[in-house]
Amino acid sequence: MTDVKNAKTALVTGATSGIGRAVSLALADKGYSVIALGRNAEALEELGTIKNVHPQAVDLGDSRALEAVSASESIDVLVNNAGIMPPNVKFSDMDQADIDNTLEINLSAALRVTRLVLPGMIKRKAGHLFFTGSTAGQAPFPNMAVYGASKAAISSFAAALRCDLSGSNVRVTEIVAGRVETALYRDALDEAGRQQMYSAFDAVQPENIAEMLLTVLQMPAHVDVTRFDILPTAQFVGGGGFAGKD
Ligand SMILES: NC(=O)c1ccc[n+]([C@@H]2O[C@H](COP(=O)([O-])OP(=O)(O)OC[C@H]3O[C@@H](n4cnc5c(N)ncnc54)[C@H](OP(=O)(O)O)[C@@H]3O)[C@@H](O)[C@H]2O)c1
Repeated sequence: MTDVKNAKTALVTGATSGIGRAVSLALADKGYSVIALGRNAEALEELGTIKNVHPQAVDLGDSRALEAVSASESIDVLVNNAGIMPPNVKFSDMDQADIDNTLEINLSAALRVTRLVLPGMIKRKAGHLFFTGSTAGQAPFPNMAVYGASKAAISSFAAALRCDLSGSNVRVTEIVAGRVETALYRDALDEAGRQQMYSAFDAVQPENIAEMLLTVLQMPAHVDVTRFDILPTAQFVGGGGFAGKD
Protein backbone atom coordinates (compact mmCIF):
# COMPACT_ATOMS: atom_id res chain seq x y z
CA MET A 1 0.00 0.00 0.00
CA THR A 2 1.26 3.44 -0.87
CA ASP A 3 1.36 5.52 2.27
CA VAL A 4 1.65 9.23 1.63
CA LYS A 5 3.86 9.54 4.70
CA ASN A 6 6.40 7.11 3.22
CA ALA A 7 6.69 8.88 -0.10
CA LYS A 8 9.40 11.49 0.07
CA THR A 9 9.78 13.96 -2.73
CA ALA A 10 7.32 15.60 -5.09
CA LEU A 11 8.02 17.83 -8.06
CA VAL A 12 5.21 20.17 -9.07
CA THR A 13 5.31 22.38 -12.16
CA GLY A 14 3.21 25.53 -12.25
CA ALA A 15 3.44 25.67 -8.48
CA THR A 16 3.27 29.44 -8.23
CA SER A 17 -0.45 29.74 -8.94
CA GLY A 18 -3.84 28.03 -9.04
CA ILE A 19 -3.93 24.24 -9.12
CA GLY A 20 -0.17 23.73 -8.81
CA ARG A 21 0.05 25.94 -5.75
CA ALA A 22 -2.83 24.14 -4.04
CA VAL A 23 -1.32 20.75 -4.88
CA SER A 24 2.10 21.84 -3.59
CA LEU A 25 0.64 23.01 -0.29
CA ALA A 26 -1.43 19.85 0.13
CA LEU A 27 1.57 17.59 -0.54
CA ALA A 28 3.78 19.63 1.79
CA ASP A 29 1.13 19.39 4.46
CA LYS A 30 1.27 15.58 4.12
CA GLY A 31 5.01 15.66 4.74
CA TYR A 32 6.34 15.59 1.20
CA SER A 33 9.40 17.58 0.38
CA VAL A 34 7.97 19.57 -2.52
CA ILE A 35 10.13 21.01 -5.27
CA ALA A 36 7.90 23.77 -6.54
CA LEU A 37 8.67 25.13 -10.01
CA GLY A 38 7.53 28.38 -11.57
CA ARG A 39 8.72 31.77 -12.80
CA ASN A 40 6.90 34.38 -10.74
CA ALA A 41 9.55 35.62 -8.30
CA GLU A 42 7.13 36.98 -5.73
CA ALA A 43 5.07 33.78 -5.65
CA LEU A 44 8.23 31.67 -5.42
CA GLU A 45 9.44 33.74 -2.49
CA GLU A 46 6.13 33.27 -0.71
CA LEU A 47 6.23 29.51 -1.35
CA GLY A 48 9.68 29.46 0.24
CA THR A 49 8.15 30.48 3.56
CA ILE A 50 6.00 27.34 3.67
CA LYS A 51 7.29 24.28 5.50
CA ASN A 52 8.48 21.46 3.20
CA VAL A 53 8.21 23.59 0.05
CA HIS A 54 11.39 24.25 -1.93
CA PRO A 55 10.77 26.71 -4.75
CA GLN A 56 12.94 26.79 -7.86
CA ALA A 57 12.72 29.39 -10.61
CA VAL A 58 12.46 27.59 -13.93
CA ASP A 59 11.10 28.76 -17.25
CA LEU A 60 9.72 25.58 -18.79
CA GLY A 61 10.19 27.12 -22.21
CA ASP A 62 13.92 26.87 -21.62
CA SER A 63 14.84 23.22 -22.03
CA ARG A 64 18.36 23.73 -20.63
CA ALA A 65 17.03 25.31 -17.42
CA LEU A 66 15.33 22.03 -16.60
CA GLU A 67 18.66 20.28 -16.29
CA ALA A 68 19.27 22.30 -13.13
CA VAL A 69 16.19 20.90 -11.41
CA SER A 70 17.49 19.34 -8.24
CA ALA A 71 16.85 15.75 -7.15
CA SER A 72 15.19 14.79 -10.43
CA GLU A 73 16.50 11.23 -9.98
CA SER A 74 14.72 10.79 -6.67
CA ILE A 75 11.26 12.21 -7.29
CA ASP A 76 8.45 10.02 -5.97
CA VAL A 77 5.56 12.07 -7.32
CA LEU A 78 5.63 14.29 -10.39
CA VAL A 79 2.75 16.66 -11.04
CA ASN A 80 3.03 17.94 -14.61
CA ASN A 81 0.70 20.83 -14.14
CA ALA A 82 2.08 24.05 -15.67
CA GLY A 83 0.03 25.29 -18.55
CA ILE A 84 -1.04 28.34 -20.47
CA MET A 85 -4.21 29.43 -22.23
CA PRO A 86 -3.50 31.33 -25.44
CA PRO A 87 -5.80 34.18 -26.55
CA ASN A 88 -9.33 32.90 -27.18
CA VAL A 89 -9.51 33.62 -30.90
CA LYS A 90 -10.16 31.57 -34.01
CA PHE A 91 -7.18 29.47 -35.10
CA SER A 92 -6.84 31.51 -38.30
CA ASP A 93 -6.35 34.64 -36.19
CA MET A 94 -3.77 33.17 -33.83
CA ASP A 95 -0.21 34.39 -33.78
CA GLN A 96 2.28 31.67 -34.62
CA ALA A 97 4.19 32.56 -31.45
CA ASP A 98 1.13 31.78 -29.31
CA ILE A 99 0.66 28.45 -31.09
CA ASP A 100 4.31 27.49 -30.56
CA ASN A 101 4.35 28.61 -26.95
CA THR A 102 1.17 26.70 -26.07
CA LEU A 103 2.52 23.46 -27.49
CA GLU A 104 5.88 24.06 -25.85
CA ILE A 105 4.58 24.65 -22.31
CA ASN A 106 1.46 22.45 -22.30
CA LEU A 107 2.98 19.48 -24.12
CA SER A 108 6.73 19.47 -24.82
CA ALA A 109 7.76 20.71 -21.38
CA ALA A 110 5.64 18.06 -19.65
CA LEU A 111 7.29 15.36 -21.74
CA ARG A 112 10.71 16.80 -21.01
CA VAL A 113 10.18 16.87 -17.24
CA THR A 114 8.75 13.36 -17.33
CA ARG A 115 11.78 12.12 -19.28
CA LEU A 116 14.01 13.65 -16.63
CA VAL A 117 12.24 12.08 -13.66
CA LEU A 118 11.09 8.72 -14.99
CA PRO A 119 14.39 6.78 -15.07
CA GLY A 120 14.71 7.18 -11.28
CA MET A 121 11.16 5.94 -10.76
CA ILE A 122 11.70 2.93 -12.99
CA LYS A 123 14.93 2.11 -11.18
CA ARG A 124 13.22 2.29 -7.78
CA LYS A 125 10.12 0.51 -9.12
CA ALA A 126 7.87 3.15 -7.60
CA GLY A 127 6.45 6.52 -8.48
CA HIS A 128 3.37 8.42 -9.55
CA LEU A 129 3.06 10.71 -12.55
CA PHE A 130 0.16 13.17 -12.73
CA PHE A 131 -0.72 15.17 -15.82
CA THR A 132 -3.16 18.08 -15.74
CA GLY A 133 -5.32 17.58 -18.78
CA SER A 134 -8.58 19.35 -19.53
CA THR A 135 -12.11 18.82 -20.72
CA ALA A 136 -10.88 20.86 -23.70
CA GLY A 137 -8.76 17.85 -24.63
CA GLN A 138 -11.81 15.57 -24.58
CA ALA A 139 -14.34 17.64 -26.53
CA PRO A 140 -14.13 20.52 -29.01
CA PHE A 141 -14.59 24.12 -27.94
CA PRO A 142 -14.61 27.14 -30.26
CA ASN A 143 -11.51 29.36 -30.18
CA MET A 144 -9.55 26.68 -28.35
CA ALA A 145 -8.20 24.50 -31.15
CA VAL A 146 -4.56 24.72 -30.11
CA TYR A 147 -5.14 24.56 -26.36
CA GLY A 148 -7.47 21.59 -26.93
CA ALA A 149 -4.91 19.88 -29.15
CA SER A 150 -2.23 20.30 -26.50
CA LYS A 151 -4.49 18.75 -23.86
CA ALA A 152 -5.68 15.93 -26.15
CA ALA A 153 -2.03 15.13 -26.77
CA ILE A 154 -1.32 15.06 -23.04
CA SER A 155 -4.26 12.69 -22.57
CA SER A 156 -3.03 10.38 -25.30
CA PHE A 157 0.53 10.54 -24.03
CA ALA A 158 -0.47 9.69 -20.46
CA ALA A 159 -2.55 6.72 -21.59
CA ALA A 160 0.17 5.33 -23.85
CA LEU A 161 2.86 5.93 -21.25
CA ARG A 162 0.90 3.65 -18.90
CA CYS A 163 1.29 0.90 -21.49
CA ASP A 164 5.07 1.45 -21.58
CA LEU A 165 5.18 1.37 -17.80
CA SER A 166 3.22 -1.81 -17.31
CA GLY A 167 5.09 -3.93 -14.76
CA SER A 168 7.20 -1.03 -13.50
CA ASN A 169 4.95 -0.16 -10.53
CA VAL A 170 4.95 3.46 -11.73
CA ARG A 171 1.42 4.84 -11.81
CA VAL A 172 0.02 7.43 -14.21
CA THR A 173 -3.01 9.63 -13.62
CA GLU A 174 -4.52 12.22 -15.93
CA ILE A 175 -6.49 14.97 -14.21
CA VAL A 176 -9.28 16.02 -16.56
CA ALA A 177 -10.32 19.36 -15.17
CA GLY A 178 -13.36 21.40 -16.12
CA ARG A 179 -13.68 25.02 -15.04
CA VAL A 180 -11.37 25.77 -12.13
CA GLU A 181 -11.14 29.27 -10.64
CA THR A 182 -7.51 30.26 -11.25
CA ALA A 183 -5.50 32.85 -13.12
CA LEU A 184 -5.37 30.70 -16.28
CA TYR A 185 -7.46 33.06 -18.42
CA ARG A 186 -5.61 36.22 -17.37
CA ASP A 187 -4.08 36.71 -20.84
CA ALA A 188 -6.78 34.99 -22.86
CA LEU A 189 -9.72 37.11 -21.71
CA ASP A 190 -10.23 40.63 -20.42
CA GLU A 191 -11.58 41.24 -16.91
CA ALA A 192 -15.20 41.42 -18.09
CA GLY A 193 -14.80 38.16 -20.00
CA ARG A 194 -13.33 36.43 -16.96
CA GLN A 195 -16.09 37.71 -14.71
CA GLN A 196 -18.73 36.50 -17.15
CA MET A 197 -17.08 33.09 -17.34
CA TYR A 198 -16.79 32.58 -13.59
CA SER A 199 -20.28 33.91 -12.87
CA ALA A 200 -21.85 31.24 -15.08
CA PHE A 201 -21.66 28.64 -12.30
CA ASP A 202 -19.65 27.77 -9.21
CA ALA A 203 -16.21 26.76 -10.46
CA VAL A 204 -14.12 23.97 -8.97
CA GLN A 205 -11.50 25.39 -6.59
CA PRO A 206 -7.81 24.44 -6.86
CA GLU A 207 -8.01 22.91 -3.37
CA ASN A 208 -10.70 20.48 -4.60
CA ILE A 209 -8.23 19.13 -7.16
CA ALA A 210 -5.47 18.88 -4.57
CA GLU A 211 -7.77 16.89 -2.29
CA MET A 212 -8.63 14.48 -5.09
CA LEU A 213 -4.97 14.09 -6.03
CA LEU A 214 -4.12 13.10 -2.47
CA THR A 215 -6.95 10.56 -2.47
CA VAL A 216 -5.62 9.00 -5.67
CA LEU A 217 -2.09 8.98 -4.29
CA GLN A 218 -3.20 7.14 -1.18
CA MET A 219 -4.79 4.26 -3.06
CA PRO A 220 -3.04 0.89 -2.58
CA ALA A 221 0.07 0.56 -4.77
CA HIS A 222 -1.61 -2.02 -7.02
CA VAL A 223 -4.46 0.39 -7.81
CA ASP A 224 -3.98 3.13 -10.38
CA VAL A 225 -6.70 5.72 -10.91
CA THR A 226 -5.69 6.31 -14.49
CA ARG A 227 -7.82 9.40 -14.92
CA PHE A 228 -10.28 11.48 -13.00
CA ASP A 229 -12.67 14.09 -14.38
CA ILE A 230 -13.41 16.95 -12.03
CA LEU A 231 -15.94 19.56 -13.13
CA PRO A 232 -18.32 22.05 -11.60
CA THR A 233 -21.55 20.19 -10.88
CA ALA A 234 -23.39 22.57 -13.21
CA GLN A 235 -20.92 22.25 -16.10
CA PHE A 236 -21.40 19.85 -18.93
CA VAL A 237 -19.13 19.43 -21.89
CA GLY A 238 -19.86 18.93 -25.54
CA GLY A 239 -22.80 21.24 -26.19
CA GLY A 240 -20.82 24.08 -27.70
CA GLY A 241 -20.51 27.58 -26.26
CA PHE A 242 -17.49 29.29 -24.85
CA ALA A 243 -15.09 27.22 -22.78
CA GLY A 244 -17.71 24.83 -21.49
CA LYS A 245 -20.31 27.44 -20.62
CA ASP A 246 -22.85 25.34 -22.43
N1 LIG B 1 -8.30 26.72 -14.65
C1 LIG B 1 -8.99 25.89 -15.39
O1 LIG B 1 -10.19 26.08 -15.61
C2 LIG B 1 -8.33 24.66 -15.96
C3 LIG B 1 -9.13 23.69 -16.54
C4 LIG B 1 -8.54 22.56 -17.08
C5 LIG B 1 -7.16 22.41 -17.03
N2 LIG B 1 -6.39 23.38 -16.47
C6 LIG B 1 -4.95 23.19 -16.47
O2 LIG B 1 -4.46 23.28 -15.14
C7 LIG B 1 -3.08 23.60 -15.18
C8 LIG B 1 -2.79 24.68 -14.14
O3 LIG B 1 -3.41 25.88 -14.54
P1 LIG B 1 -4.18 26.85 -13.53
O4 LIG B 1 -5.60 26.82 -13.93
O5 LIG B 1 -3.78 26.58 -12.15
O6 LIG B 1 -3.61 28.28 -14.06
P2 LIG B 1 -2.63 29.36 -13.43
O7 LIG B 1 -3.15 29.79 -12.11
O8 LIG B 1 -2.46 30.36 -14.51
O9 LIG B 1 -1.26 28.56 -13.23
C9 LIG B 1 -0.44 28.24 -14.31
C10 LIG B 1 0.93 27.87 -13.80
O10 LIG B 1 1.77 27.49 -14.91
C11 LIG B 1 3.02 28.14 -14.78
N3 LIG B 1 3.66 28.42 -16.05
C12 LIG B 1 3.12 28.96 -17.16
N4 LIG B 1 4.06 29.15 -18.10
C13 LIG B 1 5.24 28.73 -17.56
C14 LIG B 1 6.58 28.69 -18.02
N5 LIG B 1 6.95 29.12 -19.25
N6 LIG B 1 7.54 28.20 -17.18
C15 LIG B 1 7.22 27.78 -15.94
N7 LIG B 1 5.98 27.79 -15.44
C16 LIG B 1 4.99 28.27 -16.25
C17 LIG B 1 2.69 29.44 -14.05
O11 LIG B 1 3.87 29.87 -13.39
P3 LIG B 1 4.47 31.37 -13.49
O12 LIG B 1 3.27 32.29 -13.48
O13 LIG B 1 5.32 31.48 -12.27
O14 LIG B 1 5.21 31.41 -14.76
C18 LIG B 1 1.62 29.00 -13.08
O15 LIG B 1 2.20 28.53 -11.89
C19 LIG B 1 -2.78 24.02 -16.62
O16 LIG B 1 -2.12 22.95 -17.28
C20 LIG B 1 -4.15 24.24 -17.21
O17 LIG B 1 -4.16 24.06 -18.59
C21 LIG B 1 -6.94 24.50 -15.91
